[in-house]
Amino acid sequence: MGSWEVLVTRRIPEAGLEAIQRECRVRFWDEDRPIPRERLLAMAAGVDGIVCLLSDPMGSEVMAAAGPKLKVIATMAVGVDNIEVAEATRRGIVVGNTPGVLTEATADLTWALILSLGRRIVEGDRLVRSGQWTGWGPTQLVGADYVGKTIGIVGLGRIGKAVARRARGFGMEVIYFNRGRLAATEEAAIPARHVPLEELIRQSDFISLHCPLNRESHHLISRERIERMKPTAYLINVARGPVVDEAALVEALKAGRIAGAALDVYEREPELAPGLRDLPNAVLAPHLGSASIETRNRMAEMTARNLFAGLRGEVPPWCVNPEAVRG
Ligand code: DGY
Repeated sequence: MGSWEVLVTRRIPEAGLEAIQRECRVRFWDEDRPIPRERLLAMAAGVDGIVCLLSDPMGSEVMAAAGPKLKVIATMAVGVDNIEVAEATRRGIVVGNTPGVLTEATADLTWALILSLGRRIVEGDRLVRSGQWTGWGPTQLVGADYVGKTIGIVGLGRIGKAVARRARGFGMEVIYFNRGRLAATEEAAIPARHVPLEELIRQSDFISLHCPLNRESHHLISRERIERMKPTAYLINVARGPVVDEAALVEALKAGRIAGAALDVYEREPELAPGLRDLPNAVLAPHLGSASIETRNRMAEMTARNLFAGLRGEVPPWCVNPEAVRG
């Protein structure tokens, strides 16, 4: 065991945790719920490294509570919206994340949601279990078609592209909105057509969100944009909850202004906007994007490797602020 003192904010898969426990003295929040703020601040005092999850806000307060020894924050997630990266950089703390490894699992989950929503699988499951099902019916739980329809992808990064590749198999047209447009050869290979966001909102039969959460993307899917969607359109969010105005979405779903929504992420997880849980035209998943066994094991291994590199004063292999490494 090394001399590094490390805080691990929640049990992560053994694939990463065992290595961390072998190399470091570990302070460990061993309950299956996010670590309460005051415990986090107390347990962070004097550590060299922190392993955190997307549910742990890592701001200046935590960094200050940890003190000057803190060299690395390794999050077991690709999203770093819970971490004040600029503040970490200022303090010489490197931030490691887990990009790439969860791309396919998250794209699979996106399609699971697109299909469950459009083909009303969850409503059907409830009907069968309720004992009220009276047998096959010609107009019973009829849903969406996919072939020939348009999917609009907001954020055609790694995950967005993997979702787009799957859309091809369903015979769909792919349009996308990114702040930066892809090279024409890459667009042709997917194939996907870049459009302004307003056009994507108006034209899409399915809108799937895959952009990171930052100041520009907060409530990107606003009340006004939801109102401009086709009344037959579906919204799918596996990115981050605050990208969508959740209260406005509930109103639109209640009023039948759009056909439905499938959400894997929420504005104030694990709380839901009032009324959301009662809507039959919403499919609600508990943030399962990366939740496959192999993916989560690989994420845990990457997190451990990021942690060790940061503790040694090196740039972690997957690092969002390499400039933070102290010279
Ligand atoms: C991430 O890594 O950011 C995902 O949301 C985890 O499922």
